[in-house]
Amino acid sequence: MEKLWWKNAVVYQIYPRSFNDSNGDGIGDINGITEKLDYLKELGIDVIWLSPVYKSPNDDNGYDISDYQDIMDDFGCMADFDRMLSKAHSMGIHIMMDLVVNHTSDEHKWFIESRKSKNSAKRDFYIWRDGKDGKLPNRWESAFSGSAWEYDSESGQYYLHSFSKKQPDLNWDNPEVRRAVFDMMNWWCEKGIDGFRMDVISMISKREGLPDGAELGNGYTSNTSCDGPRVHEYIREMNKEVLSRYPLITVGECPGVDVEAAKKYANTDGSELNMIFQFEHVSGSQKKASRFGKWDAEAMTMPELRENFTKWQKSLEGCGWNSLYWDNHDQPRCVSRFGNDSDEYRELSAKMLATCLHFLKGTPYIYQGEELGMTNAYMDDIADYRDIESLNAYKGLTAENKIPADEVMGYLRNVSRDNARTPMQWDDSANAGFSEGEPWIKVNDNYKKINAAEQINDEDSVFSYYKKLIALRHSLDIMVDGVYDLLLENDPDIYAYTRTLGDDKLLVLCNFSDKNVEIAAEVKAMINKSKSIVIQNYKDSSSDELRAYEAIVYMI
Ligand code: GLC
Ligand code: CA
Repeated sequence: MEKLWWKNAVVYQIYPRSFNDSNGDGIGDINGITEKLDYLKELGIDVIWLSPVYKSPNDDNGYDISDYQDIMDDFGCMADFDRMLSKAHSMGIHIMMDLVVNHTSDEHKWFIESRKSKNSAKRDFYIWRDGKDGKLPNRWESAFSGSAWEYDSESGQYYLHSFSKKQPDLNWDNPEVRRAVFDMMNWWCEKGIDGFRMDVISMISKREGLPDGAELGNGYTSNTSCDGPRVHEYIREMNKEVLSRYPLITVGECPGVDVEAAKKYANTDGSELNMIFQFEHVSGSQKKASRFGKWDAEAMTMPELRENFTKWQKSLEGCGWNSLYWDNHDQPRCVSRFGNDSDEYRELSAKMLATCLHFLKGTPYIYQGEELGMTNAYMDDIADYRDIESLNAYKGLTAENKIPADEVMGYLRNVSRDNARTPMQWDDSANAGFSEGEPWIKVNDNYKKINAAEQINDEDSVFSYYKKLIALRHSLDIMVDGVYDLLLENDPDIYAYTRTLGDDKLLVLCNFSDKNVEIAAEVKAMINKSKSIVIQNYKDSSSDELRAYEAIVYMI
């Protein structure tokens, strides 16, 4: 089997709820995805990462799974899934499933059984503890606000939920849990799926004694489960029992994992996963302390992004493989966060960000709508928000921390996950062509201007630019294998780097500012020796300066 087929692939993430609604109930679904495979083929992507489509009560939009081997009613049925899978395969598109196994839904049959009593055969499938001195077992905060423990009065103990209380954490130290998860994964592999994106996989091994973490200033501490003592043992076991048996693409979502640890998770020796999603570049600027975690953090500046990307590029060179992303269903829109979403600069800066990312070494991920330059939702009314993390934070910050509501609304406008979850903008008809019914979440007001129909046949569109970037990756080995080197380390506005393979060199220049910036002499000299321009977001070019948000790539 061709084990490394994924190395020159480009992945496109679909958040099914917001992608395309085929039956007018306002909720995107699997048949809706099947209808749009032609669109994805046109874009040229190789793999779809499908956010969860399994049976779920939807406390966290499918990241709370009640049956791993069935489909969520809102999204259709298994026959719909099979049809989508075989149509995608017939078009040369692979399907990567989201694997959410740090936790299940509290409505999963394992948990229903587990909570019945302390003596239940499935008790040890989850993490149950007695209170300590009449208090909670520890002071961990849930990722969605409040304590990470919920008391179950029926059986008289607390269970751990690192996320919502409807997402109890599985106990990976129990070999029966691992067996059950691996069996389920093999079942999907036998069905013919092509890979797994593994939800918070760095959190599955809890530290002995569940020690408190850093004080958060609100009575809680951080959860210390990231990169725990047995995580590599468990992933290696998974690799042996499942992953090594099929030609899969695998990516682990790894909060709290640094570049040294990444060398293990994403080792090119194939013993664990193909690559991981790291969080550093989307965790906010280190320059300004934030009071409320992600909510009031500022986005990294270009020099910080550059330093971070360079660290990951250089450290994994030759020993690991990077994933490359700006956006996903948990992040605000990159053109709003790192670019400039004004009418004047939205398209230019969207293309610039795409250039910067796609020429790095690793596997690029595109989140639905990113290829159109979709922007943040900018919703002004808390009633329009749907995301459990945002709603809980709003409640917590306004009530417990007494932060004025309009200040908190500002945080949500900047970083709420709902910014990424508004419906895909297909055309300028009602509801952006997403649904004939009332969408489950508000459509972004700018859909008349920003939509797929407008862009597909326009060769200057953001869509066409992404299409070109994807095609380049498929035709230029240097984009896949070239070695990364940073140039102009201290330039305040221009991110410049090269990729080198044999005698060939790519020179990538991106201006992250809205000003004209002079190009330094050493780079000018390279431009003067260049053979061709590989891609650019303006119609012409000069070796003297880069204009606002200009991006250009030369073959040297
Ligand atoms: C991951 C998912 C996020 C989800 C959480 C809990 O971070 O990407 O959407 O809420 O895990 O499953
Ligand atoms: Ca539907």
